[in-house]
Amino acid sequence: MLLHHCTWPEVEAYLTRSRGIIIPIGSTEQHGPTGAIGTDAICAEAIARGVGEATDALVTPTISVGMALHHLAFAGSMSLRPETLMAVVQDWVTSLARHGFERFFFINGHGGNMATLKAAFAQTYQAIADLGTVPGGDRVRCRLANWYMTRGAYQLAKELYGDAEGSHATPSEIAVTLFVHPPLKREVPLEPAIAPSGRAIYGAAAFRQAYPDGRMGSNPSLATADHGQQFYGAAVRELSESYRAFLAEP
Ligand code: NI
Repeated sequence: MLLHHCTWPEVEAYLTRSRGIIIPIGSTEQHGPTGAIGTDAICAEAIARGVGEATDALVTPTISVGMALHHLAFAGSMSLRPETLMAVVQDWVTSLARHGFERFFFINGHGGNMATLKAAFAQTYQAIADLGTVPGGDRVRCRLANWYMTRGAYQLAKELYGDAEGSHATPSEIAVTLFVHPPLKREVPLEPAIAPSGRAIYGAAAFRQAYPDGRMGSNPSLATADHGQQFYGAAVRELSESYRAFLAEP
């Protein structure tokens, strides 16, 4: 169920049987010469909706722009500053907590969001406590679930792509976008086939210098829609279990 397709009485009824909600979060940033700029948001949204269907949970709109400052030297990339993303997370969670939501399951598609999300969760707990006006505010819990770090997705990437998986503009994430939106397939020659890897990430200009076409250690031309369906299935299965366990925590 999508929160934005529900009416308020439907959400009120949902809250009588569940206090959990799923928030997809991605990024809007370059994914090499073949990957859509919305890759991380597309993957997180599709997988979050799959988990929502499997667990009969509400899914919020997607936080589509994340923390991607290091990608800004490539056209089309957008980023929130870490403090902006922290404020967004705090405001989304606080809004929903006022209605009685207590368990917030963030399904994330972008490694660059992880540190900021953890910081945002700490800030949000404190902000809700300080506010003192959110009933049940002390029961609010946020969980970060990265679909690409699920055991199933990780193993599948290793089997299908080995060292060509890399760490950015990976064939696994591109495969999920092809499963979700087949027209996103592009035939563009990649040189070298496997992108360079191993250099640290600093600012946007240094990133482009180290990774000239935007990929990091990957060969996304190996991605297929069929692979994407397998990644989707593995991630939805595992994250559905994680979500149920999160709700069942005392
Ligand atoms: Ni990505």
